[in-house]
Amino acid sequence: MPAPLIDITNLSKEYTMGSKSLEVLKGLSLCVNQGDFLAIMGPSGSGKSTLLNILGCLDRLTAGTYLLNGVDVSHATDDKLSVIRSTVFGFVFQNFNLIHNLNVYDNVSMPFLYTKSSKNDIHSKTLNAIKDVGLAKRIHHNPQELSGGEMQRVAIARALVNRPKIIIADEPTGNLDSVTGSAIMKLIRELNHKGTTLILVTHDKNIASWSKNIQILKDGKFI
Ligand SMILES: Nc1ncnc2c1ncn2[C@@H]1O[C@H](COP(=O)(O)OP(=O)(O)OP(=O)(O)O)[C@@H](O)[C@H]1O
Ligand SMILES: [Mg+2]
Repeated sequence: MPAPLIDITNLSKEYTMGSKSLEVLKGLSLCVNQGDFLAIMGPSGSGKSTLLNILGCLDRLTAGTYLLNGVDVSHATDDKLSVIRSTVFGFVFQNFNLIHNLNVYDNVSMPFLYTKSSKNDIHSKTLNAIKDVGLAKRIHHNPQELSGGEMQRVAIARALVNRPKIIIADEPTGNLDSVTGSAIMKLIRELNHKGTTLILVTHDKNIASWSKNIQILKDGKFI
């Protein structure tokens, strides 16, 4: 068996505000293997986004270990973490997080700002990603000239343009109606069928049922 892609042991996260501290994650252990499609559910405030941010190397754990592809990233430098973020992960958020004054093409090609790819390579990968999400006809539109579902498709194209090993999605359908949400989930599941590992947070059971595994987070622990 190859090493798990993600292997966390006894992970804790404490936020400190002045003299007060808040322990949000309390000793979580979790393995994610290549090709998994994991949904994380749990009540509001249970620490789902906090966990995703740590898994995606957007934030650091307070205690425990995080092995990514067998390498301990708990103490990696900020520079190292930003390289990991831009090469290993793609991110999809509930509010799409698109850049308003950039068109679809420029939003999707954003992740290449941090890599050393050739212009031709960037161009063909960007076009392919936009086609993959069915938005070839909207390529020159700015986000405010798109529907919510289209905006989320742009965000998915941006997440997959670098061909990341892992896509992390935090409530990707939270701002969409159920029909559009299902279309987005179809797209996400297709990525998984093509081999991308997926970690998704949702509080919607119907959305979670698209995944292969469900973990429930409550009071900072998996139940
Ligand atoms: N930067 C921060 N500093 C201090 N406390 C924080 C910070 N970010 C989150 N928290 C607190 O940590 C707890 C968990 O927040 P988190 O955003 O992970 O919850 P969640 O499970 O994603 O909730 P939701 O379903 O509402 O998105 C909350 O009580 C929140 O107030
Ligand atoms: Mg959240």
